[in-house]
Formats: sequence, structure tokens, C-alpha cells
Amino acid sequence: MESYEIKEHDVLIIGAGGAGLRAAIEASSQEVSVGLVCKSLLGKAHTVMAEGGMAASLRNADPRDNWEVHFRDTIRGGKHINNWRMVEIFCQEAAERVNELEEWGALFDRNKEGLISQRNFGGHRYPRLAHVGDRTGLELIRTLQNHGIHQGLDIYMECCIVELLKEGDRICGAFGFWRESGQFIVFHAKSVVLATGGLGKVFRVTSNSWEGTGDGHALAYRAGAELIDMEFIQFHPTGMVWPPSVQGILVTEGVRGEGGVLKNCEGKRFMFDYIPDTFAAETSDTEEEASRWLNGDPEARRPPELLTRDVVARAIHRERMGGRGSPHGGVFLDISGQRDADHIKKTLPSMYHQFMKLCNLNITTTPMEVGPTCHYVMGGVSVEPDTAMSAVDGLFAAGEVTGGLHGANRLGGNSLTDLLVFGVHAGLHAAKYSKEIVEVAKPSKDLLKKMEQLALEPFDPERTENPYVLMAELQETMELHTGIVRTSDEMEKGLELLQDLKQRAERVRVDGNRQYNPAWHYALDLRNLLCIAEAITLAALKREESRGGHTREDFPESNDSLQKVNAFIHDKDGRMFHEHREREPMPEHLVKLLN
Ligand code: FUM
Repeated sequence: MESYEIKEHDVLIIGAGGAGLRAAIEASSQEVSVGLVCKSLLGKAHTVMAEGGMAASLRNADPRDNWEVHFRDTIRGGKHINNWRMVEIFCQEAAERVNELEEWGALFDRNKEGLISQRNFGGHRYPRLAHVGDRTGLELIRTLQNHGIHQGLDIYMECCIVELLKEGDRICGAFGFWRESGQFIVFHAKSVVLATGGLGKVFRVTSNSWEGTGDGHALAYRAGAELIDMEFIQFHPTGMVWPPSVQGILVTEGVRGEGGVLKNCEGKRFMFDYIPDTFAAETSDTEEEASRWLNGDPEARRPPELLTRDVVARAIHRERMGGRGSPHGGVFLDISGQRDADHIKKTLPSMYHQFMKLCNLNITTTPMEVGPTCHYVMGGVSVEPDTAMSAVDGLFAAGEVTGGLHGANRLGGNSLTDLLVFGVHAGLHAAKYSKEIVEVAKPSKDLLKKMEQLALEPFDPERTENPYVLMAELQETMELHTGIVRTSDEMEKGLELLQDLKQRAERVRVDGNRQYNPAWHYALDLRNLLCIAEAITLAALKREESRGGHTREDFPESNDSLQKVNAFIHDKDGRMFHEHREREPMPEHLVKLLN
């Protein structure tokens, strides 16, 4: 057994995107010692992929907006299965978090009156997204980083966590390694906050980069926490489709928010054909407004391109399947005919450069080719809404790694605000929890030995399977069997393939040594991805209806009785166990807001 580098903290935060940074700032304001673990370099987080803005009812664009309307939109967008208490906290605290970010130096775009400018996004009744061009996530990270480095945080960059450590029922730290040297590091901590983001890398086409391997979901599951609503995956309607090397990279919804329209290869603006029957009536103030929209009036206030992401992604999928796609298998997104070149370059500078640099296309003159890309997971660790603590003592979570807030489908712009609102709750309550604990048991030598063996298994020369091959097969399996449109036959087959991949992963082998060995890192990521792939597919198979980010060809309608339940997954004697449980009913004062 080798000797380990050991670090001690009151609160250990795993993940340094928006949620992790905000949790770290909050925890350290409680005067506890905080360690912040970052799989990549600080600042390199999927948070930057929420480009178009952060939603909060600031009322700068429309004075009729308030937290109650935001609540209604979020619950409707989530198809009524959200955790209502999380949504209530979120909508009530959103504006405070945006204003605080501005106080800390975020340079939001301004409107003519000099107030923070707010743009339209799908499913939001009023323009509600505070933004910094199309780089809002980047500005959020920049601001939190600048603020955070003055708070005395200990930051561990390029450090991967292999497993959470528990003694008895309580969290006592985490076991990890430095990516560069391959040396192990042990964290002793009174509480742990998971802020590891999403799991897009389980699919072949994704806007997520290499870090998005569902680490926090898998760590929490193996530590005994419950996962909720794992079937709900958000396929963002507009990712790049060409050239192949950049497939999946995000094309912000801000393009549609700024007036971009979707067309098929026949030049038809097809989204008018996909407006759900009830939608116009539900979201319009007057009958006249609803009927203008339904009749395809392009000047109607909310264009159909800004229907919720699940609706737009499915529509694009159907156009492609119907043979009306673009040459490289997407559809066309055109802002060139809608706005002049200066406006496009000013409001969407990153999109302009992205298309220029990556496919030599000028978006001010030429339509883009776009198609759905796995962007976000609505499901995740189930936490208590106010404290953000999971079912495991001392294990907290915030941001995309959690489930419940967004229900079956997240509204664009709600993720950045989520990171801040629940980053605060998780950081605060983890700090309070740690302060109450006088001493936490240190992980035993046996436990650490077990962790070391687990991490080093892939170096066994008797093993035969290649981690890159397994990863590609896993992503293809998920893309084909649990993708945008699902059937029970496909998913049952998918589960069989996953079982086979799991067995083969036990024989995964890597060569070379531990110093910056990407094959080894892949092999360890694979373990997490296989765990969450099974959770997604199992939950998707069991939900026999279509709702939000879960579309079943064999059950195309929503089922009212399934609206009452959420799916919970946990480990039971080494097997994955799934059950539907009824949600606590929404209290009357919130029910009123929905009408
Ligand atoms: O399209 C976007 O800019 C993404 C925003 C989000 O996921 O919230």
C-alpha cells in the first residue's frame, strides 16, 4: 500500500463549475475550511455552455413579470413533475442571485434605460434572460472565480475523485488521484458537496466536453444516495452537425431568441406545424394573441422556434426522419434573413466566430445547419430542497448533478440561476453541518487499500478490453437505444447490451504508467458512465408515457397518473432498484399560481 497525500477540510466540494464555485464561496463565508476539487482546470466547466443567459424575473423587459409567473413557466416547462418546493425557492431567490453577481463584477448587457437587458427564451412568458452576449456562462464563471479566489479556498485542479469515503452511514471524505502524476490523494472531510455537473458523454452527440461523465451521479449512487427522474434527458435542439469533428457543439438558443428561424430543405418554417394544441391558449394573454400565433403570424410575440426544447428537438428529429433535413442531416437555422450583420455580430459574437472558425460559414449571410445534441440531464441526486442534503448523512449536492428542480424538461436559462441559488443552499448547509460535527471518523486503512486496488485494476496485464472501444460502443448504444425517441423493444435491447458492456468493462485494460495516462482516465470514467447509462435506460423503460425530455413512440401521450410520480433509483445489495413514488401534493398557494 502506498502512502497517500492527505488533505483535511470541513467542507469538500467536488466540481468547480458555477454550482461548485458558488457553494465554495458560501461555505467559506461561514468560516470553515473549504477544499474545491476540479477535474479539469479551474474555469473549464460546462457552465460556459449555457450561453444565452440566466433566467430571473428582474422585470426589466416586462413589468408584468414576477417570481410567480416564473414559477408557473418552470412547472409547465417541467410538465408538472418538478419538486415544487425547489421551484419555489429557485424563483424567489433568482433575482437576488443575478443582482449579487452584478455586484461582484459581472458585466451584463444593458437595455436603453441602462438596466440589465433580458432576452426571450423558450417557455418563458416574458423576456427573462439576463445575458452577456452569448457568453453568459463564461461571465458567470469569470465573476465567481474572481470573487472566489479571495475567499481562502484550497483549489485542487486536475484532480479526479474515484470514490466517496464513508465510515458507518456518514460521509468522511473522498479518494482521488492527480491526473498529471497519477498519485493518490485522500480527502478527510466532515461534509461533501457534489457539484460535478452532467453526463452528456454517455451519448455520442453531445454539447458536453470530456469532463461530463456523470461522476457525481455515480459517486452518489454508490455511496447510497437516491437518484431521481433519470429518464429525462434534454436534447438541445440546436447543436452543430457539420463538420463531423464538431458535431454536437452548442448553437445557443440565443440565436432563436434574437429572431433566428428554423427551416427545412424545402424552405418551410416548419415549427408552426408542431405547436401543441393547448399551448397557445395556455401561454397567451388574449384570445387574439393566441389565434395570431396559431395562424402562423410571424410577428406574433413568441415565435414557435421558442417552444420548449423538447418540442423543438422532436420537431427537428421528425423533419429529418421525414426526409426534409439539410445536406448533413440537420435542419437550417437562419438569422441572416432576420437581423442585420452588425446586430448579429454584437449580440451573438461567439456564434459568429464559432461558425467562421469551425466551418468557414458566415452566419450573417448564410443559414447554419443544426440538429439535436445531448445537453443536459434533468435527473440526478435527490436532495432535500432547503438544505440540499441527500439521503446520505453529510453528502450535499447542487446544480446539474441534482434532480427535481426542472422536472421533465428544463427551460433554457434556468440552469445558470439554478447553479447560483442551490450553490448557496448547499454551501451554507454543508458548512453548518460540518460546524456541528466535532470529529469525523478517518477512513480506515482497509478502506483506502480497497480504493487503491479498485483504481489500479485496469493495469492488470491479464485483462484484454480496450477502454476506447468500450466507450464508443456505450455511446452508440445510448444514442440508438435510449435517444430522443424511445421504444420498449429498443430499451430492453439497450439494457442487454449495457449488461454485456459492464462485464467487458471488468476486463478493461490499460498500458503504460499512471502519469497522465488518458486510457486509465477513460477506464475510470467508463465505470461511472455505465452506472448512469443503466439508470437512464431503466427509468426510461419504466415510464410508459411521453413527457418532456422522455419521448416514447410506443406511449406517445402523457399519462395523468404518471404525472403524480417521480422515479427513484438506488442500490440494493449491489443491484439497481427502481420505483415510482408519489410526490407530496403542491400546497394551495402554489397551485393557484398555475392557473
Ligand atoms: O442555448 C443556450 O444558450 C443554453 C442555455 C442553457 O442551457 O440554459
